[in-house]
Amino acid sequence: MAIIPITVFGNKILRQKTRPIKSITDEHIKKIKDMFDTMRNASGIGLAANQVGFTESIFVVDLKGVDGYEKFKPIVMINPEILLESEETEIAEEGCLSLPNIRVEVERPKQIKVKYLDTDENEQELEAEDLFARVILHEYDHLIGKLIPDRVNSEIKKKLKEDLEKIKRKEIKTDYPIAED
Ligand code: NI
Repeated sequence: MAIIPITVFGNKILRQKTRPIKSITDEHIKKIKDMFDTMRNASGIGLAANQVGFTESIFVVDLKGVDGYEKFKPIVMINPEILLESEETEIAEEGCLSLPNIRVEVERPKQIKVKYLDTDENEQELEAEDLFARVILHEYDHLIGKLIPDRVNSEIKKKLKEDLEKIKRKEIKTDYPIAED
């Protein structure tokens, strides 16, 4: 088991677009395992590659700990692409392991369709809704260099400014290791 320090707001890698993976190697499989370990250690429900310093297009999701999702099967998505987003949206509070102690309401499509590769390099497609759709969209955002503050209106963004500056200066307490910039 390997716990990797998590990159936080201010770290440039979070603003970089990740690269698609051409072929999945044993090294990727190890990285994916470490991502699951790191996410669970931080009590997260999703984690994207650039949050642990990797530059390739991978994220992991595990909702098992959430009420109503006890039967959820942990999932890894490689090279994900969002194929469809419903016009219907939903507003719900979101957090992010790279934005410690920030909780903010974000409006996102209620339903999506996503395409990705599994760890056997098989192309998969799935439809997701509610929390599952939200987490996929949040993690997908990470892979394209976007974070929660990019998904809220300017008024909310303004309110977040001070807290974001604190995170940048690492004036934060977390119960999981965070990375140096
Ligand atoms: Ni996040």
